[in-house]
Amino acid sequence: MIYWAIRMREKKRSKSIIVANWKMNPVTLAEAKKIFTSTLKLAKSLKKTLVYVAPPYLYIPNLVSKSKTVRIGAQDGRSEDFGAFTGDVSLKMVEESGAHFVILGHSERRAQGETDGHISKKISTAISLSLEPIVCIGEPTRDVNGDYLRFLEKQILGSLSGLSSAFVSHITIAYEPVWAIGSQSKGAMDPRDLHETVLYIRKVLRTKFGAETGDSIKIIYGGSVDAGNASSLIEHGMVQGFLVGRASLDGKIFGEIIRAVENPRV
Ligand code: PGA
Repeated sequence: MIYWAIRMREKKRSKSIIVANWKMNPVTLAEAKKIFTSTLKLAKSLKKTLVYVAPPYLYIPNLVSKSKTVRIGAQDGRSEDFGAFTGDVSLKMVEESGAHFVILGHSERRAQGETDGHISKKISTAISLSLEPIVCIGEPTRDVNGDYLRFLEKQILGSLSGLSSAFVSHITIAYEPVWAIGSQSKGAMDPRDLHETVLYIRKVLRTKFGAETGDSIKIIYGGSVDAGNASSLIEHGMVQGFLVGRASLDGKIFGEIIRAVENPRV
């Protein structure tokens, strides 16, 4: 556990991360292997960027067995190890399957009733199991009065409630404004607005957990990241990587996103 903690801290200082959130795609294992093979090729020569892939649960063991450079994780997991929870999968099972990380609190899970309380419990369980939590936050809408900032603060403090600074230093925050996610959205946010929001998130983290912990937490962005906007989001947005949905399933587009993060122009 101590070795893991040191390794995590070092990694956080040095590398950007790109998380591929495959959601409920693709339909067959054969397709999953094909997408994964192209992702592996893209990730092989990277020096400053780590690539993470979160496939549906069923594909995890197969992809784990193929992966050295790319980290495999789950899109959710239950905090109880086992029990009468029809249809669910526990974080313990995720860890047993060889996964390295877990996405928690995605807005599509929150929309199905997941609360900040559930998420803080899951974070604590994940860290105890040495699964790295990627914790999603994001406002449903923007308003001119700045209410979305209060929403974000409440969501951050709620999702991380009851966690010590030592625990919190292991997480990555994925800021994903809900209005920017998916094909029906308005598209990715403006990089300068992202910069401003990241500064605010950082302030909330520093105030709650102290400057050292607050600064050590990696913040990445998600919501309609694609080949056309990745460079400006990474160069002006002040984020240390991306959580990518749709575009992570297309080798060519995902390759361009990876290159933008690995070699920013500034
Ligand atoms: P998108 O999804 O990139 O397809 O907008 C991002 C996410 O929901 O994680």
